Amino acid sequence: MDISVIVLAAGKGKRMKSDIPKVLHPILGRPMLSYVLDAVFEISPKRIVVVVGYGAEKIKETLSSIDVKYALQSKHLGTGDAVRCAKEAFRDYHGNIVILNGDFPLIRSETLKGFIESHKKGNIEISLLTAFHESPEGYGRIIRNGNGDVLRIVEEKDATSKEKKIKEINSGAYCVESGFLWEALGKLDSKNKQGEYYLPDIVGIATKSGRKVGGYIVPDSEEVLGVNNREELAMVEECLRTRTNERLMLSGVTIVNPEVTYISPGVSIGADTVIYPNTFIYGGTKVGRGCKIGPSVWIEDSKVGDEVTIAFSSYITKAIIEDKARIGPFAHLRQESQILSGAKIGNFVEIKKSKVGRGSKVPHLSYVGDTNIGERVNIGAGAITCNYDGFDKHRTIIEDDVFIGSDTMLVAPIRVGKGATTGAGSTITKDVPPGALAIERTKQLVITGWKRKPREKKGNK
Ligand code: UD1
Ligand code: CA
Repeated sequence: MDISVIVLAAGKGKRMKSDIPKVLHPILGRPMLSYVLDAVFEISPKRIVVVVGYGAEKIKETLSSIDVKYALQSKHLGTGDAVRCAKEAFRDYHGNIVILNGDFPLIRSETLKGFIESHKKGNIEISLLTAFHESPEGYGRIIRNGNGDVLRIVEEKDATSKEKKIKEINSGAYCVESGFLWEALGKLDSKNKQGEYYLPDIVGIATKSGRKVGGYIVPDSEEVLGVNNREELAMVEECLRTRTNERLMLSGVTIVNPEVTYISPGVSIGADTVIYPNTFIYGGTKVGRGCKIGPSVWIEDSKVGDEVTIAFSSYITKAIIEDKARIGPFAHLRQESQILSGAKIGNFVEIKKSKVGRGSKVPHLSYVGDTNIGERVNIGAGAITCNYDGFDKHRTIIEDDVFIGSDTMLVAPIRVGKGATTGAGSTITKDVPPGALAIERTKQLVITGWKRKPREKKGNK
């Protein structure tokens, strides 16, 4: 039987005390919802429908690269109502539907697979994913009868003090046969403490009509931690961080202090790379083998080759760094920076939309923007490209073996030919032919024996 998925993401997340929709709160640099969707894609569903409401446009925009369908819940009437809003998208669909909360980012795809398998084997119409929590506060509790069969779910707010003692909780994940789902949703009412249409009530509806309900217990209860406030957000972040760091360490990466190293799950890092503390590696970054990174480095959506050093306090986004390059300390590589093998980018250097050729050096205090630097070029301390005239950006071309003197201003558009040199302190506004020296300076005046005229000092009276 086919599997499709509905993800509930229409709530504001009041307990977050935020203007940002809850499911967009970032965890290790990615929105919470994207983790749930990652797990969902792994089970290859026929259809994925995300129910959105609060901040719907923002959610769609943020996840625009992810191929899912959306359904709109215009009023916050509860989780049962939210699923009902997705019905239209399943008009021609008959099969199982897995329903998931958008706020439990630790869920693993293997768990979902096991859950679906057990549902299919049971030949039943509805199954629940449950877990045992030492502190079950805030979650719906699973009520079972004397034989251990699931009877219904009671929400914390509606539970008696005896029911509140139950430690088996509802994870917010269900697998339901579509025919029964739409039928049961039609029978929901909002007679409860919150005045909402509760999705969990479909369990009671199932058992009342004599149906058996499957309960699949997740052994690792951490996986179904729901995020309702910022404290839980931090807890979930810590779990994801630990998971990712452990995986990397077991694959041969040294993480000097994993507690203060923040790597998102989508990052890959080669063996024998050492990551020093306080380093953040986010997005789809790929790091090669034998690199030294950190301390206090930020790398996002970048590609780093083998044996690269990225030293203290460097900030790198959307850049490509080839093998054996040396970056930092205090370097800033921005979008479309390409640092080819063996090149060196030193302290207080910013690079944007530029290519730095093999073995070239930009060692100190430079800005290089919209520039192509060839091979074996040396850029002296303090030299910069003046790429912006207040209206447009212009390119600078620096060919192989060029020597740019310290504090040179290269006013773009400009080309410095192969092997040319510029004198320190020059403002270069015209192309420099290959092999030439370009120098732009007033002659130094030296007045010998010059003394400052004595002046009356302005002392305090
Ligand atoms: C829900 C369950 C609870 C379960 C817990 C697991 C209900 C009534 N309760 O509680 O049994 O233990 O999840 O974490 O379902 N949403 C909508 N539209 C709405 C309301 C909510 O789309 O009208 C979405 C939210 O965006 C969220 C998810 O549904 O992603 C769950 O809502 P939330 O308010 O967090 O439910 P809980 O109180 O955590
Ligand atoms: Ca929740």
